[in-house]
Amino acid sequence: MKGIVLAGGAGTRLAPLTTAVSKQLMPVYNKPMIYYPLSTLMSAGIRDILIITTPDSQALFRRLLLDGSQVGCAFSYAVQEAPRGLADAFRVGRAFIGDDSVALILGDNIFFGYGLGRLLRSIREPDGGVIFAYRVRNPEDYGVVVFDAAGKAVDIIEKPRPAPSPYAVPGLYFYDNTVVDIAASLKPSARGELEITDVNRTYLQHGKLHVKVLGAGVAWLDTGSFDTLMKAAHFVEVLEARQGILVGSIEEVAYRMGYISAEELEKAALRYGKSAYGQMLLNLIQDPPLPL
Ligand code: DAU
Repeated sequence: MKGIVLAGGAGTRLAPLTTAVSKQLMPVYNKPMIYYPLSTLMSAGIRDILIITTPDSQALFRRLLLDGSQVGCAFSYAVQEAPRGLADAFRVGRAFIGDDSVALILGDNIFFGYGLGRLLRSIREPDGGVIFAYRVRNPEDYGVVVFDAAGKAVDIIEKPRPAPSPYAVPGLYFYDNTVVDIAASLKPSARGELEITDVNRTYLQHGKLHVKVLGAGVAWLDTGSFDTLMKAAHFVEVLEARQGILVGSIEEVAYRMGYISAEELEKAALRYGKSAYGQMLLNLIQDPPLPL
């Protein structure tokens, strides 16, 4: 299975933070935002990953993430010329996806939870699409899933006002190869975007959409405003300080998943010089973490 991190977009809601620097490069406590979604894909067992950026910021992402071999992965890069919508990722990424199935994660979505990696690794070859539903207080800001009395997903609506259910669709989607053709045939929505919700509705209409509810044991954090960005950073800081673990570290996941050896982890850590983050990576070699 291939993976795509969509890290383009206009980022205007966080201006002036994002006036000169891409949103997905913003710090979330001690690492750039994109580390979190990248580490989520890696913990799902996905190592062949396309990073889609705006034309301006590709060089910065390359400088940060290199070719992925330092974390036992293969990173490639593609440009989205304009923010045409999330489903455009499957048009931009068509050649990269080839005949494979593909997972898409949004470069600003942060997930953390016990057992999440195991859950994601169980979705290796999806028959159709697999998406998630997560209870939130502000569902009207997201794609929303409507369930029937038997708990079966019957509809998905983009930013409905008022929302018919509290279940939002997080920015992590697993699809079989049909997604490439579905995305190719989409028309822009009223807001002028190729909507991921329309991709999901197509799968739903064909009886091929599986919606898994993510329980309260999983954190799905928003980074769309100054407040939520700050809260996400606090969340990471609290967990890391209390438990001495790393949240959203691509090097730690690579080591735990067996993608890199202790020597390679050390090399990756030394790249960060004297930073406390690099030191935490070095500590992993003395005090190996539990398997994911
Ligand atoms: O976060 C989950 C939500 O993401 C879903 O529940 C919604 O169904 C989905 O439409 C999307 O909603 P948003 O309105 O939050 O998406 P936004 O336009 O903010 O884009 C999400 C990220 O994707 C953002 O970091 C920028 C990036 N992006 C966005 C667009 C439209 C791109 O890289 N390219 C694009 O063309």
